[in-house]
Amino acid sequence: MIIEPRMRGFICTTSHPKGCEQNVKNQIEYIKSKGNINGAKKVLVIGASTGFGLASRITSAFGSDAATIGVFFEKAPSEGKTASPGWYNSAAFENEAHKAGLYAKSINGDAFSNEIKKQTLDLIKADLGQVDLVIYSLASPVRVHPVTGVMHRSVLKPIGSTFTNKTVDFHSGKVSEISIEPCSGDDIENTIAVMGGEDWGMWIDALKAENLLAPGATTVAYSYIGPSLTEAVYRKGTIGRAKDHLEATAFAITDGLADIGGKAFVSVNKALVTQASSAIPVIPLYISLLYRIMKEEGIHEGCIEQIQRLYQERLYTGYEVPVDEKGRIRIDDLEMRPDVQEKVAKLWIEAVTENLSEISDLEGYRKDFHNLFGFEVGGVDYKEDTNEVVNIESIG
Ligand code: NAI
Ligand code: NA
Repeated sequence: MIIEPRMRGFICTTSHPKGCEQNVKNQIEYIKSKGNINGAKKVLVIGASTGFGLASRITSAFGSDAATIGVFFEKAPSEGKTASPGWYNSAAFENEAHKAGLYAKSINGDAFSNEIKKQTLDLIKADLGQVDLVIYSLASPVRVHPVTGVMHRSVLKPIGSTFTNKTVDFHSGKVSEISIEPCSGDDIENTIAVMGGEDWGMWIDALKAENLLAPGATTVAYSYIGPSLTEAVYRKGTIGRAKDHLEATAFAITDGLADIGGKAFVSVNKALVTQASSAIPVIPLYISLLYRIMKEEGIHEGCIEQIQRLYQERLYTGYEVPVDEKGRIRIDDLEMRPDVQEKVAKLWIEAVTENLSEISDLEGYRKDFHNLFGFEVGGVDYKEDTNEVVNIESIG
């Protein structure tokens, strides 16, 4: 079968197994090129199939020879339909890990549920005994609460007043003004329920209750801050409230892990093209301008470069983990550099449909977006017939 990208709104409904595999291989090569990291050896990654979570799994496995268990929610291939990219990524990751003699198993299902937590705990118990690092990297629009059964939906809205600003349809390159009405009703509570820290805390509680966390175990979840340009819709909007909750949860988890000397961190990461971020209005325009400036300055990073730096220069230096005044790890330091932000803010004012391809890295944005689904990846022959059977038994 020849697989081509098929776009529907902000998502691509097809994905390419060979392209996804090549993306994973490229990330592995990058990690190997950076040398050994004196990190954790038994690692659980929740949200392990794409974006920052996949990069974390790769960095642990190929930077520190770690055994990894990955949890994610992905679609397997079926009659006439490709799998979701995270499924192909995970199959490719497991292949490569096994070839390298590394333990790697995956659990495909709803990480918010009691069932998937239990399956994961059982697997750790049976195969690893304990874990010494837990990466929490879920991005989801919905969560069925495991106690109440209520289905919570997160929203990306400003709080208090309507937000009007520029946005871009990155497929067509058309810049337009968008107005987003403020949230109402239970929007804030629902968004916190989905993207806040409650589920992270539940995972850690469950692991600890079964003595599955090694002494000194670390857990890390990912957050975002970003510039004043996007503040109303991101950090001061509903999703920002969820991130506030996530960040506060880190302290509660650390308190709860005192007896085993464990620690929870939130790492604030850079804005990047992922399935999660491309769905947020305004952010794609910001990222296109940001990429342009960061590439010009030679300081652009993708997920794998970000996480490599997180491990090598923050988590596993042999010294205390450096944090900001709010206790957060910062690997968004290059994005937030004042000179970078000043340049982005200037371009933001100038940006219109007619000049966007000139002043922004819209092409880079589009390419990264296609890459997420395994398309436009260098070295892949897209005319070649694709063999769909990629190590299906080992995942899910
Ligand atoms: P992503 O969409 O690439 O990855 C999400 C992961 O969560 C996937 O592995 C997916 O399978 C998994 N997942 C979703 N729902 C699930 C469920 N119910 N059960 C099990 N697995 C599930 O997202 P990305 O961007 O890597 O986001 C990860 C974290 O990083 C999020 O907390 C996000 O807010 C944060 N972050 C993202 C930034 C960005 O610009 N993309 C910047 C800074 C932080
Ligand atoms: Na992720």
